[in-house]
Formats: sequence, C-alpha cells, structure tokens
Amino acid sequence: MQAAVLHGVGDSSLDVRDDVELVGEVGPTDVKVKMHAAGVCHSDLSAMSGILPVMPPSVLGHEGSGEIVEVGSLVTDLAVGDRVIITWTPPCGKCRYCRHGQPNLCTTMLMQSMATPRFGYEGTEAFAFLGVATFSEYSVMAQEAVTKVADDVPYDILSLLGCGVMTGVGAAINTARIEPASSVAVIGVGGVGISAIQGARIAGASEIVAVDAIEGKLEASKRFGATKVATPDTLQEVSQEVTGGEGFDYVLECVGKGVTIRSAFDATRRGGTTVVVGAGANEDMVEFSAFELFFSEKRLLGSYYGGADVRRDYDRLLDLWRAGRLDLESMITSRLKLEQVNDGFEALTDPGTIRQVIEY
Ligand SMILES: NC(=O)c1ccc[n+]([C@@H]2O[C@H](COP(=O)([O-])OP(=O)(O)OC[C@H]3O[C@@H](n4cnc5c(N)ncnc54)[C@H](O)[C@@H]3O)[C@@H](O)[C@H]2O)c1
Ligand SMILES: [Zn+2]
Ligand SMILES: [Zn+2]
Repeated sequence: MQAAVLHGVGDSSLDVRDDVELVGEVGPTDVKVKMHAAGVCHSDLSAMSGILPVMPPSVLGHEGSGEIVEVGSLVTDLAVGDRVIITWTPPCGKCRYCRHGQPNLCTTMLMQSMATPRFGYEGTEAFAFLGVATFSEYSVMAQEAVTKVADDVPYDILSLLGCGVMTGVGAAINTARIEPASSVAVIGVGGVGISAIQGARIAGASEIVAVDAIEGKLEASKRFGATKVATPDTLQEVSQEVTGGEGFDYVLECVGKGVTIRSAFDATRRGGTTVVVGAGANEDMVEFSAFELFFSEKRLLGSYYGGADVRRDYDRLLDLWRAGRLDLESMITSRLKLEQVNDGFEALTDPGTIRQVIEY
C-alpha cells in the first residue's frame, strides 16, 4: 500500500512509497482503519524538522478520518463499516487525567502506540507518528484512537476535527474560556488559528483581530469571524484602535515560536489571558521577568489538543457545523493525493492556504 515515510529527522521531504505493508496483528483491542482523508497540519512538518519528537523511520500524518475495516477480538463498541474521526491523543479512560477531566493529557495510549512498529518496507520496520499515521492507505491503531460518528458527515470535514479544528476551537472555548463581548487576538492564522478565530466567534467575542506575517492569509480570516487584521508590525497600532492600548482580553498564539509567544503575552491586557497553542521546540526559550509575571496578573496557559474531551467535543463541533456556526468547508483550500504531500508542506506558506486535505 501507499504511505509517506520519514526516514530521518531533518529530511526535507517524505518518501511516498507504494511498497509499505502493515506488520503485526490487529491486536485484541486494536482497529484497522481504511483512511479516507488526512489533513496537512504543521505539526507533521515540525516532526520532520526536529521541532517535535518523532522516532524515525515513521509514517507521518496525525489528522484524519476513515472507515473501520477490521476490529480486534475484544472490541465491542466499534464495527466494520463505522465512520470514524482519528485522535492522536486518545484517552485511555482509566488514568488520573482521564478520570479527573483532562483526558487530552492522557499519554497511556500515545506512549504505547508510538513505540509499536506498525509498518514495514524492504525489511525495515517503521513506527506510526503519534500512533495513528494518517498518511497511509491503511493504519492499525488502538480502539481509543477512533471515535464513531454519524454517516451524514463527509470524510474531509471529519479529518479536520482530528487535529486543527479541535485544537483551535478547543483552545478558545475550553482553555481560554472566552467570554462574550471580549477582545481577542489570534497570532498565526493557518488551520489552527482560523479555528481559534471561529471558536472566539462562537464564544461571542466582540472584536477578533487576526495577526499573520503573510498578508494574504489575513484577508481570508474575515469570513471566519476576524473583525480586524494586523501584521506583527501593525499589531500595536490595531491594539490601540481596538483596546485603547490596554491590550486584548485574550491572545491565542497559533504559530509555535518563542518570539510570537512573547508578542502574544505583550499584546494581552493586565489580568488578561495568553494561550499558547502553537507547538514550539524544547530549546526555544521565552523570557519573562519575575516582576511582570505577578504585577501584570496575566494568565499564561498552555493548550494541548484544545483541552478536548473527544467524547463530548466532537459532537459539539459537529452540532455547531450542522447549525452553520462552524464553517469547515471553507477551511479546505486544496485537495491533494498522497503523492503530493510534500507539495502540501511547501504550500503551507502560500497566501491562499488554510487547510489542505489528502483524499484517498
Ligand atoms: N497545541 C496543540 O495541541 C497543537 C495541535 C495542532 C497543531 N499545533 C501547532 O499549532 C501551530 C499552527 O499549526 P497550523 O497547522 O495552523 O500551521 P500553519 O502553518 O497552517 O499556520 C501557521 C501560521 O502562522 C503564521 N506565522 C508564521 N510565523 C509568524 C510570525 N512570526 N508572526 C505571525 N504569524 C506567523 C504563518 O504565516 C501561518 O499562517 C503549529 O505550531 C502546530 O504544530 C498545536
Ligand atoms: Zn488516560
Ligand atoms: Zn496537528
């Protein structure tokens, strides 16, 4: 079958091969998924460049949707033919995080699945990135990594929920808990940032400023709820206009760099909330003074997978989509075949790109 393999950290492209096989059994609590759609999220590119951890060789891809084609002997809640969203941080349901309302932080399934070789080619074994490897025609994963959904939702829409949309909307609603009539800035308006903008709109923000280094990306953000736009250079000016220079109630950083995290903190008003959504490198340091942290009383929050409880939040997102309040169709700016995945990474910096979906 066809799959996109990362051979080594630092490789500038994936090796899209058609001789990849699944290795090992479909375990008693595993499911085998036929992939239908996979989104190109920046985190795959960050795994390639070494910003995020990966164990090469690995089949990449972590945002996706598909159909169950086989279930393990102990799987009772899923059946062949089920339409599913794939989750890269699945809740085991048993650990302390899962039992105490933070299932997105559960690492039980993630650790197990990342350390299990699931693929092989030319005598080499390969791992599944984040245990799901959505850049493959078929993938075997833990049953917890899939959520069954109604048959009325197209696969391309479902794939977005698997990472970018859940992360961005969740950051606005679950992590920031944006209040009605507040002022919000979102720095970095790719797939995750546009979702954060939509989350802010859903939460009732009165002003939503989209900030991006690529001006072409800003124009598109207006249809998703941005009321004003700024480049990093004009952010202060726009903040003056919107907040009288006080700063925004909420700033969501959706880039993943120390420098933009610092800008996000600076753009937040005293007592406001800065949310770090972007996934940056371990070595990328951000400096805060001991004085400003207490004196500003800003809340600096991380957001991992949008603070999601997938058993609740996928339904919520789909209800919002059905009600016409979450625009997922317009987020898909191009459709690719798996062999074009490297073009997809290059196109992340194109002004017209929000989310690109690989269709199988
Ligand atoms: N927290 C999580 O659980 C989680 C989940 C998914 C993705 N992510 C991360 O979220 C980030 C965004 O992902 P994406 O798929 O939307 O990426 P993307 O490449 O589609 O979008 C990033 C945007 O940031 C803009 N940008 C880059 N540098 C900038 C700067 N200095 N100032 C302003 N804008 C700048 C780019 O022009 C682009 O529009 C990545 O770091 C990704 O790894 C985090
Ligand atoms: Zn758990
Ligand atoms: Zn992602």
